[in-house]
Order: sequence, then structure tokens, then C-alpha cells
Amino acid sequence: MRDCCYTPDKWDVLIVDNEIDILNVTKFALFNFKYMDKKLNLINASSKAEAMEKLKANPNISVAFIDIIMEENDSGLKLVEYIRKELNNYKIRLVIRTGQPGDYPERKVIEKYEINDYKSKDELTEDELFCTMTTAIRGYCDLIMLEYYKELEHQLIQDSKMSSMGEMIGMIAHQWQQPLNLMSLITGELEMSHSSNNLDVFNFESFINRTYNQIHYMSQTINDFRGFLKPDREKKLFNVKKSLESIFTILDVILKQKNIKYALNSENNYLLNGYETEFKQAVINIITNAKDVLSEKIIEKGFIKINIKLINNEIIISIKDNGGGVDKRLLPNKLFENYITTKGLKGTGMGLYITKHVIENSFNGKILCKNWKRGAEFIIKMPNVKVGIISD
Ligand SMILES: Nc1ncnc2c1ncn2[C@@H]1O[C@H](COP(=O)(O)OP(=O)(O)OP(=O)(O)O)[C@@H](O)[C@H]1O
Ligand SMILES: [Mg+2]
Repeated sequence: MRDCCYTPDKWDVLIVDNEIDILNVTKFALFNFKYMDKKLNLINASSKAEAMEKLKANPNISVAFIDIIMEENDSGLKLVEYIRKELNNYKIRLVIRTGQPGDYPERKVIEKYEINDYKSKDELTEDELFCTMTTAIRGYCDLIMLEYYKELEHQLIQDSKMSSMGEMIGMIAHQWQQPLNLMSLITGELEMSHSSNNLDVFNFESFINRTYNQIHYMSQTINDFRGFLKPDREKKLFNVKKSLESIFTILDVILKQKNIKYALNSENNYLLNGYETEFKQAVINIITNAKDVLSEKIIEKGFIKINIKLINNEIIISIKDNGGGVDKRLLPNKLFENYITTKGLKGTGMGLYITKHVIENSFNGKILCKNWKRGAEFIIKMPNVKVGIISD
């Protein structure tokens, strides 16, 4: 049995027809109908206006069977327009039923109106109704599932943003440790000089200057992080090299502490169009992984090298480390799947999944990973690239 995240008690189905006999026959023919073990809740309407009311009152109607000719010759088609264009409901499956197919040829109606099926009334035997209804509800379920997965994916990206925010706050705390220690030392010195009557103007000014320097450094750190996390409101052109430099500004302290060298080379000023924060997030996930593996394995002379070049109008960004490489079982694609991690409880396995998602969906690019002699190499390919300079 298929799975559907939307499981109502019954499937709401709207039957719109001005002939009472047709309503009754339909009701009778579908009396025993079940899909995923759920029966139908048939809602009748005998005019366009009544159907509009019922649709408003029941937003979860999954299928509507609509007669074309009712109070007007094209009432049913107008109802279709109302559902799609005014209610903006593209989920409900619409089946047109007409007693005069000659007046409204199938091909023309399907072409012009956003319906999902077209049936002549005399085609609608019990079997035919069963098949039409099953296909329609199945189509509706597929759309609901798609919506559900999109929402789930959005939620995942939000969760991962929150978790990297946590990481960022950890880094700020880390970067503030040193200036805070220094300021506490300076205050101690000041106190001692004062109590031993050694506090002359020169000393005092030096204390003040050293304190201001530390405060400036701390506020600079906060500004860097704020700029880094600020969500982009719109897509814009940004300089790839500068964007990557800002990542290293943020990661500098942590990389130095772990004794990891880094280098960034770019042949030119390449520009990309898109949400810069998303791009940085995607790359930071790769760099964080390299940092994790280099510090975990305590690699001497650990490095992360980024090279940017242009080949066939594609920006190629290579991110290489010497951390021993990716577990072969995860190559070439497994490591990009969600929840794939070799870090036990320390990893969520979402990092590279998000990275791939951003590169493919926001930038139309591609990402691949391979091992080289001493480590891993991630290659990002971005199409439609511009070369130039933009003012900040
Ligand atoms: N540079 C690398 N060297 C070696 N293995 C890597 C490297 N980058 C990624 N991997 C492998 O790919 C797996 C998936 O990476 P991913 O970033 O998706 O998740 P994670 O790092 O385990 O968890 P999270 O990013 O949520 O903290 C990692 O667990 C690791 O085994
Ligand atoms: Mg990771």
C-alpha cells in the first residue's frame, strides 16, 4: 500500500451537476468505494454558485466532478477557472463530465482549462467511475506528499541553520576569550599601579589604549559574524573570492588553534549571482568537515586549500585537504545524502546534504567529491559566470 502523509477520515469529493439523477447515480455507484481504506464523503452541488460555497466551506476537497452545462452553457468551465485562478487551488483534481461532448470536444477543453480528466457522462459506468476516482485521489495524494516533503526540507534547512548558529556563537565566545583575558590582566595591572602609587599619566593612557584596542577587536568580531549571518533579501552579484575570504576571517582563530594552514587562490574576480549567505553556508560546511578530520586525526601540517578558476564559462572551486580522505563507502554520492555521518553523535550528517541542495537548487551548479593521495577534494562547478569587479 502506498503511503500518504495526508490521511483524512474520509475523502471529500464534490459532485457538481444540475441533474438530480446524475447525482444519485454517482452516489450509488461510489457507495462502496474506498481508497487507502477510507470511504468518500460526497458533497453535492447543483449549480456553479452552490459549488463555490461548498468549496469555500471545505478547503480539503480532493476531487471535483464537474458538469459543464448547468444554469449556463459553460457554468462548469467557469467554475474550473474560479477554482484555479481565484481560489488558487491547484491541488484539487478536476474531472469534467459532460452529457454533450460534441459541444465541448475533449481536446479543446483539456487544452484550454486546467482540468485533470474529461469524461462523457455515458462513459461513467461503475467500473469507469471507480478507476477515475482512484486515479484522481492518487494524484491528489501525490501533490500533498510533494508539498509535505518540500516543507520538511525547508524545516531541515532551518534546523541546520540553527545548529550552525550555535556553532557560530561558540566561535564568537572562543574569539572573545583572549581579549577578555587581556582586559582582566590590564585591569589587574591598573589596580596594582594605583595601589602602589605608580599610576602616572603615561601609564594611565597606555592602559586606556590597550583596553580600547581589545574592545575594538571584540566589536569587530561581532560585526564580522553579524555580516556573515545576515540573511540576504534578494539575489545579487557577489565576488566569490571575497565571499570565501570572509569565511576564513570567521574561521581564522579556530583554524590557527588547531594548527591548520589555509590558502585561497583565485585567478580572477569571478562573480556569482545569488544569495551570498547560502553560498557561504554551503562552503563553510565543507571547510568545517576538513577542519574536523584534520583535528580528529591530529594531522601534522594539516591544510585546507581553495582554488578558484574558470573553465568553459564555469567557475570551478576546488577545496582540498590532507586529512586522509573520505571513507570509500561514502563515495561518490552517499556522503551527500541526509543523515549520513561517521561522527556518531557529534555529527548530524546534514552538512553536505544542505551544501549540495544549495549548490544545485540555488545556483544551478554541481558538486562532487573525490579522494586524492592525501585527503579529500570537493569540486563545485557553477555555470553562467561573470568576470569583473563590483564595488561594495
Ligand atoms: N574532508 C573530509 N574528509 C573526510 N571525510 C569527510 C570529509 N568531508 C565529509 N566527510 C565524510 O562525510 C560525512 C558526511 O558529512 P556531513 O558534513 O554531511 O555530516 P557530518 O559532518 O558528519 O555532520 P554535521 O555536518 O552535521 O556536523 C562525514 O561524517 C565524513 O565521514
Ligand atoms: Mg559536516
